[in-house]
Amino acid sequence: MWQHKHLLEISHLSAQDIEDVFVLAERFLNFMNRGVRKFPALKDYSMVTLFFEPSTRTRISFELSARNLSANVIHFDTSSSSLQKGETLYDTLKTLDAMGFDFMVVRHKWIGAPHWIARNVSARVINAGDGTHAHPTQALLDAFTIKYFLGTLQDVRIAIVGDILHSRVARSDTVAFLKLGAEVMLCGPPALLPAQMKREKVLLTYNIDEALNWADVVIALRLQKERQKQGLIPSLKAYNRDYGLTPERLSKIGRKIWIMHPGPMNPGVEIEPVVAESNVSWILSQVKHGVAVRMALLYLLAQVKN
Ligand code: CP
Repeated sequence: MWQHKHLLEISHLSAQDIEDVFVLAERFLNFMNRGVRKFPALKDYSMVTLFFEPSTRTRISFELSARNLSANVIHFDTSSSSLQKGETLYDTLKTLDAMGFDFMVVRHKWIGAPHWIARNVSARVINAGDGTHAHPTQALLDAFTIKYFLGTLQDVRIAIVGDILHSRVARSDTVAFLKLGAEVMLCGPPALLPAQMKREKVLLTYNIDEALNWADVVIALRLQKERQKQGLIPSLKAYNRDYGLTPERLSKIGRKIWIMHPGPMNPGVEIEPVVAESNVSWILSQVKHGVAVRMALLYLLAQVKN
């Protein structure tokens, strides 16, 4: 039975918790596929989204999910808030908490910011990405998407390719996939692939062709372009040559391999547009499933009273 007031990281959830989210998400997805988009479940609840870093899909997906469940939704605009007048983050959070929000959805560059917020407010807190540390709802929707199409994650081989070092998605995905019985191979250039991420059922390789030949599913990560300025990769062109998901590279595998990307993408760097839009790509399904998964999560968190 679901007992979590907050979702701060995927490691706090059991495999059963994740399955509970999936069962409910699939129900919401089926309703939505039949054109039913509005549910009264959270009509007495309110949610504020606090994004101190840019976002398109996570923020909009959370806001749509909460609205689909009839919650009141407010976006906190950091650039026009009293933070600009010097109000501290602590006072800002206390102020919002005093307004009685039931959910705070937080993205912040500081690792552990959502954990700190959860200790200081009475609202339920959801981590929408903290620095390079965790992005638990991305992991839930990625795992849901694999299960939706393949029926299971048990023994599924999932390669995650790119800037593993700085990727909160790679960290949270790996934890979720292992909990559900998958095997993971992490692949990237030596400077972006930390050796300490190797463990049971997690393989490491610098060679993308090895990863693609091994995998059933490959997740390409966004290459953050500042990595080139930091000297961690020689050039974007070289990165595309050595780690890009190109039609030529994929055609050499000689079998179907499913393609995922958490977004936002750098077309022509980590993935070619023709691959992202091909019939083996689940990228837009990830986005669609994210709404159902977040609806399920909000519904379950709401069951745990303050
Ligand atoms: N996948 C993801 O977190 O995308 P956004 O940065 O657009 O929210």
